[in-house]
Amino acid sequence: MATVLVTGASRGVGAELVKQYAAEGAEVIACVRDTAAAPGLEGVSGNVRILQMDTGEPVSIMAAAKAVGAQPIDVLINNAGAVGGDPAKQVLDDLDLVEWHRTLNVNTIGPVYIAKEFKANLAASGGGKLLNVTSQLAASTWPFGGMYIYSTTKAALSKASQILALDWKEEPITVALVHPGWVRTDMGGPNADISAEESASGIRALVAGLTKTDSGKFYKWNGEIHPW
Ligand SMILES: NC(=O)c1ccc[n+]([C@@H]2O[C@H](COP(=O)([O-])OP(=O)(O)OC[C@H]3O[C@@H](n4cnc5c(N)ncnc54)[C@H](OP(=O)(O)O)[C@@H]3O)[C@@H](O)[C@H]2O)c1
Repeated sequence: MATVLVTGASRGVGAELVKQYAAEGAEVIACVRDTAAAPGLEGVSGNVRILQMDTGEPVSIMAAAKAVGAQPIDVLINNAGAVGGDPAKQVLDDLDLVEWHRTLNVNTIGPVYIAKEFKANLAASGGGKLLNVTSQLAASTWPFGGMYIYSTTKAALSKASQILALDWKEEPITVALVHPGWVRTDMGGPNADISAEESASGIRALVAGLTKTDSGKFYKWNGEIHPW
């Protein structure tokens, strides 16, 4: 049975991914920033191991990788993400620079560091899949201004994922990107288009169909190609 690692598993899309993968019988490593504050995982059943990992802290990522050891990982979903604080402070006249740096650590540097730390686990599975959760706001086709912090840190993650796909061309690892949809979570808000269940279910179907030839591609949660 597959082993799946999900970051940012405490709530939202991440928690739903954990529940759905566990329900289908996968062994799930659910990484959360704070093991005492993971409301989305309450009552979760199945083969789920909850592990502490702050994706903005390389030391925490290294500790989690050490705890996992040499265990092969079939699917790693870099789902953890931060919006970068109040959108009102993501405009040129009111930019929270401290928050921008913090968000860069969580949304960009962390996922790349996770890829580095878990590369051997993904390769050991013989065909590991790394899915980085980006956003439509990171695409050049997004037609709105503002949101400097969120959009640039996700755009940098998208670019880093493309580089990873190229650097790992000869490795038995597929790297892909997904926009999870506009999802009704704490981040997406109550008026968003789809539920976390729909998003996670679409992402699972996407992951299941990924092959090495898809490495470097950017998808929507429903499996369609997302324009860069
Ligand atoms: N919702 C949308 O409409 C939407 C649209 C496009 C892209 N996305 C992306 O989809 C992913 C999931 O979003 P969501 O809607 O489920 O968001 P959410 O409900 O706000 O949940 C965010 C998750 O990321 C975790 N996280 C944040 N900072 C972290 C850190 N430093 N270390 C570890 N975990 C951290 C949170 O953990 P804590 O509980 O500890 O804070 C939480 O589990 C994110 O990458 C987001 O950017 C979402």
